[in-house]
Amino acid sequence: MNPVKVGLLGLGTVGGGTVKVLTRNAQEIMRRAGRGIEIVHASARDLGKPRICDTTGITLTQDPFEVVNNPELQVIVELIGGMDQARELVLRAIANGKHVVTANKALIAKHGNEIFAAARVKGVMVAFEAAVAGGIPIIKAIREGLAGNRIEWLAGIINGTGNFILTEMRDKGRDFADVLAEAQRLGYAEADPTFDVEGIDAAHKLTILASIAFGIPLQFDKAYTEGITRITRQDVGYAEKLGYRIKHLGIARRTAEGIELRVHPTLIPHRRLIANVDGVMNAVLVQGDAVGPTLFYGAGAGAEPTASAVVADLVDVVRTLTADPENRVPHLAFQPDALSDLPILPMEKVETAYYLRMQAQDRPGVLADVTRILADQSISIEAILQKAPVNGGDGSVPVVILTHRIREQQMNEAIRRIEALGTIAAPVMRMRLEHLAK
Ligand code: NDP
Ligand code: HSE
Repeated sequence: MNPVKVGLLGLGTVGGGTVKVLTRNAQEIMRRAGRGIEIVHASARDLGKPRICDTTGITLTQDPFEVVNNPELQVIVELIGGMDQARELVLRAIANGKHVVTANKALIAKHGNEIFAAARVKGVMVAFEAAVAGGIPIIKAIREGLAGNRIEWLAGIINGTGNFILTEMRDKGRDFADVLAEAQRLGYAEADPTFDVEGIDAAHKLTILASIAFGIPLQFDKAYTEGITRITRQDVGYAEKLGYRIKHLGIARRTAEGIELRVHPTLIPHRRLIANVDGVMNAVLVQGDAVGPTLFYGAGAGAEPTASAVVADLVDVVRTLTADPENRVPHLAFQPDALSDLPILPMEKVETAYYLRMQAQDRPGVLADVTRILADQSISIEAILQKAPVNGGDGSVPVVILTHRIREQQMNEAIRRIEALGTIAAPVMRMRLEHLAK
């Protein structure tokens, strides 16, 4: 059988990695797919730039529309990134009857509902394994491997750059900016790295995971997003002393009232496997009613790990080229007419435990005022840590409090009142804490 001809948009970190893996493993890939897979046409902005891959035999162009309009091609791989142009290219490819593979989580999280609807009309596939957690086959695992379960919740370290920064800061005491620059050099970071450090990239990925886990439409705009830029080395140290690690987690949970969809720094007991996922590695913990907890681990970013997912999607597409479109795995795991309208909960309704750090004046009654405010909001305390005043400082002391689970709304009110006390310096640092036990 003739090889399947593929067009590639983007020859950067992931595009270059994809060409390398497809070339190096061509024989293995053909044995799996049943046909060869050949990239014959590719686009990039600067055709003179040195590449990590060999592009011999590939027709190169600066115009990505030339690729998506090439009638010879059956599949388009979109690895340009960004939003408007990527959306236009993907929709054009679909309109031209081509299958699409993409690693663009921003595009899928924001425009996936529109893209999948267009793909259904044309009977083509849109595969996006590389969009979440780099090389970990988490989309396939949830969509197919766990299809017998009612998924209760999932929690993941789903941004490699952020986890790399937190790990290097904790283990080597390195500066935030310095580690971020290294992540950019290594090709882990997004074109705009604020997406990584402010949690936007993780929220894109979480939006996708929640859709395929719970069978709900993609609703990125309702995700709560908080980044890692406010975490200090002090917080990392206090968390360790109390038996916790700080990780930047994406959490999606089904509750009686709706779906929690939130990305924020989170304290996790240090003995949990996921608390020990370091560097650029990602991990996703999925709790199904039948299987119980399952943990998926692997590289979350980088050229070849991400290419591994892109190529797996290509193999999937090639294997099902002749399958009746109605009998393929649905894009969002559930049949399109069976999606649920479960609401996404506002953050005030989310229930979680908390870490609070505040700077308190070192005199009698101050801690009692704080604990009274917490008690008024029915917030029960798990642990308190009070440090000695610093020599030559202003006489105030850091106080760290861990609480049991409570609604965010009540915690907001407690923090508002604590910050209004004349004896506590605002702002109070708050982080959520999850035991991830069940
Ligand atoms: P890069 O910036 O390394 O590569 C982007 C490529 O697209 C480059 O080859 C660039 O050309 C080309 N390009 C950009 N804009 C245009 C345009 N307007 N017209 C034609 N070509 C264009 O990005 P990555 O490979 O890192 O990321 C690609 C996608 O994969 C993104 O959606 C990203 O979120 C996603 N992703 C990235 C991961 C990673 O580890 N890096 C992991 C998982 C997903 P030129 O090289 O000439 O500048
Ligand atoms: N910038 C992303 C990360 C790339 O660091 O996780 C992988 O999606």
